[in-house]
Amino acid sequence: MRVLVTGCNGLLGQKCVELRPNSVDVWGVDLHEKGVVCPADCYRSLNLTDRSAVHKQLEEWRPQWIINAAAYTHVDRAETERELCWNANVTAVENLVYAARKIGARVVHISTDYVFDGKNGPYREEDLPNPQGFYSRSKLASENVLRSSTIKFAIVRTMVLYGLTAEGRPNFVTWVIDELSSGRTIRIVTDQIGNTTLADELALGLWKIIDEDASGIYHIAGRELIDRFSFARLIAEIFALDNQLILPITTAELHQAAPRPLNSGLVVDKAMQQLGIELSDARGGLLTLKKQVESFSARSKT
Ligand SMILES: NC(=O)c1ccc[n+]([C@@H]2O[C@H](COP(=O)([O-])OP(=O)(O)OC[C@H]3O[C@@H](n4cnc5c(N)ncnc54)[C@H](OP(=O)(O)O)[C@@H]3O)[C@@H](O)[C@H]2O)c1
Repeated sequence: MRVLVTGCNGLLGQKCVELRPNSVDVWGVDLHEKGVVCPADCYRSLNLTDRSAVHKQLEEWRPQWIINAAAYTHVDRAETERELCWNANVTAVENLVYAARKIGARVVHISTDYVFDGKNGPYREEDLPNPQGFYSRSKLASENVLRSSTIKFAIVRTMVLYGLTAEGRPNFVTWVIDELSSGRTIRIVTDQIGNTTLADELALGLWKIIDEDASGIYHIAGRELIDRFSFARLIAEIFALDNQLILPITTAELHQAAPRPLNSGLVVDKAMQQLGIELSDARGGLLTLKKQVESFSARSKT
């Protein structure tokens, strides 16, 4: 089977490529000149906002499935960079759906808990979205592109992704580790509650959806709800860092451009029961990451 991973240089995209089943032939696209983990002969630089380029590439490769891990993910900048955000999060999905319909491909699309307002989480797949900021609205619009299409699709909502990658922007966990290791003080919100997600477990969930030929909406995230401040303290404990450097703050005090869902979280029972996937609690996910970091450091020393 041939599967296209879009955004294959991002956090989730890299994990999807690394954790692909042996039976799958993976091809990747992203904005950059080279693939981070995709070999050169299976990688193309492709801007998904270019409809004819997307169509041409899909006609050439003819994947049976597309994992759409590409997105504009700058939540605060999206309030001012609205066009960039809309093009990457909505127009790109329209282009993928158009090309997928032409070649008969199925799409697994990634969305977020930010489609909910965070007034009374955790949320189930069938709960009513009510996105607050521009990024959040673009992600709900991207879901609606699929819902109103005629192709077969799955939408997977996740939240607070973290993981170890060869290259890429820091995520919440790697940022906390870097700051505390450098002895810098960090202020972490006490009033944002939700799941935290090891990107490896999400990637395996996406491959399970493809394997089972599943469709519909799934929530895939770590299985425990935790506030961000407690999660940061857990990171400090597991990575033996100084938790005194973590100071509490409220979301309102941060004056961020985009609103955040506070009482958020995703109920992951459907994914665990129907797909039979394993999702860790907060500690379990961090312990897996710690093992990966240790084996990465051991490999770099040899
Ligand atoms: N990270 C989280 O905590 C989180 C939480 C909930 C949901 N999600 C969702 O999960 C998915 C994966 O997130 P992630 O954290 O892995 O994102 P990421 O690391 O930002 O990766 C996204 C990739 O897509 C690329 N991209 C952006 N615009 C593109 C375009 N027009 N054409 C082709 N590629 C484009 C980005 O390139 P550049 O880096 O050069 O822009 C980047 O390599 C996204 O749908 C995101 O909304 C993430």
